Amino acid sequence: MSGLLDLVGGTPLVSLRHSGVLAKLEYLNPGGSVKDRAALSMVLAAEESGALRPGGTIVEGTSGNTGLGLAQVAAARGYRMVCVLPDKTAVEKLDALRAYGAEVVLTPSALPKEHPNHVVAWAARIARETPGGWWADQYGNPANPAVHLRTTGPEIWEATEGRVTHFVATIGTGGTISGTGRFLKEASDGRVQVIGADPVTSSYNGGDGSPFAIEAAGHYVHPQTVDDPWPDSYHRDVVDSVVAVPDRASIEACRALARTEGLLVGGSSGTAFAVAREVTGDCVVVLLPDSGRAYLSKYHSDTWCRRQGFLDGELSAFVSPVVSVPVGTPVAEARRALESSGQPALPVVLAGRSDRFPPAAGEVLALATASDLASGTVGPASVPPVGLGVGESVADALERFPDGEVAHLVRDGRLAGLVTRGALRAGEQ
Ligand SMILES: Cc1ncc(COP(=O)(O)O)c(C=O)c1O
Repeated sequence: MSGLLDLVGGTPLVSLRHSGVLAKLEYLNPGGSVKDRAALSMVLAAEESGALRPGGTIVEGTSGNTGLGLAQVAAARGYRMVCVLPDKTAVEKLDALRAYGAEVVLTPSALPKEHPNHVVAWAARIARETPGGWWADQYGNPANPAVHLRTTGPEIWEATEGRVTHFVATIGTGGTISGTGRFLKEASDGRVQVIGADPVTSSYNGGDGSPFAIEAAGHYVHPQTVDDPWPDSYHRDVVDSVVAVPDRASIEACRALARTEGLLVGGSSGTAFAVAREVTGDCVVVLLPDSGRAYLSKYHSDTWCRRQGFLDGELSAFVSPVVSVPVGTPVAEARRALESSGQPALPVVLAGRSDRFPPAAGEVLALATASDLASGTVGPASVPPVGLGVGESVADALERFPDGEVAHLVRDGRLAGLVTRGALRAGEQ
């Protein structure tokens, strides 16, 4: 008879019918993701070093699976658990953490790293100020990559009897690819190619760091962040190449895994698989980090995909280039931009780095019209404007049309045009 935590790791490697790629199914860990490994490893290391003592409190800042993994370990080993999360985190995830008995602290999503209430800074502070508190720090904790060197790598090597030629994984903290990749490189005398799969705008592949739709993979850089170094858990020397994957391709691959292989997995699995299926090699292994159950209302939902513009539809006909201005633009300048653009409204977007274009739909703070500008108010509206996805039908879009005459269009999660109620109605006839 084994204890629950003995079941972490040892996940199966299955052959995919259509591509021959071998997929390591990390959602079969007891807590439902690859992060069970890092969570358990970090806690055991902290117990051993004395950083975490009986009756202590585990603290982490995370929007995802590490929190669940730690909450599971905390419940199984008798610790208190506090998790700091961005307030945009899916309610199902918050409820799952609470179900494990964890305490949840919410902080605004769009804060730069330097802000004291940023998830990571806040978690570190809670741990410091709580007697018996210990901050797991998955981005800087060596026990995170180490567990993959000790377990995930050897499991793949043994399951393929040393035949593995390529290993593909996404990079979040970097723990998975660094530890697994290092083991496979060493075991094969450098023969195994280690390939990172990365959301297209993530800075790991040279992207501008602007928002992307795939949770838990990639490196986002807040526009007001001055310096955002990559985590210590990511060892770049192990990785041969990092391939950029558009969100649309990740989501398509994620949905294909469910429909054509019977694997219900998350978005980052789609990112990794989109790369793995294109690799030519004798034995290609891809790591699928978690289950699609947490994303039924996102990547696996047709409605969500249409509204975010990851599927095309009737509104695709309205896509057009847009002129936008950063928040804080002087009103006279904004008025001139609106007039010379000939647009019905001027999107006001999050200020910061000017090299991000087109802006992410989530960075559109307001749609300023001529009358807003006449009264001298260029600024974020208290209620952000509703975007319409290019995948929506005209009838659905008219039903969801926000207050006012203009809405912005969203394609692949980014600003892709402006549409008036009148134009939609005309198009409908
Ligand atoms: C769903 C999912 N995909 C990918 C990753 C990235 O793994 P790593 O942090 O080991 O790089 C994570 C990590 O949290 C994850 O939860």
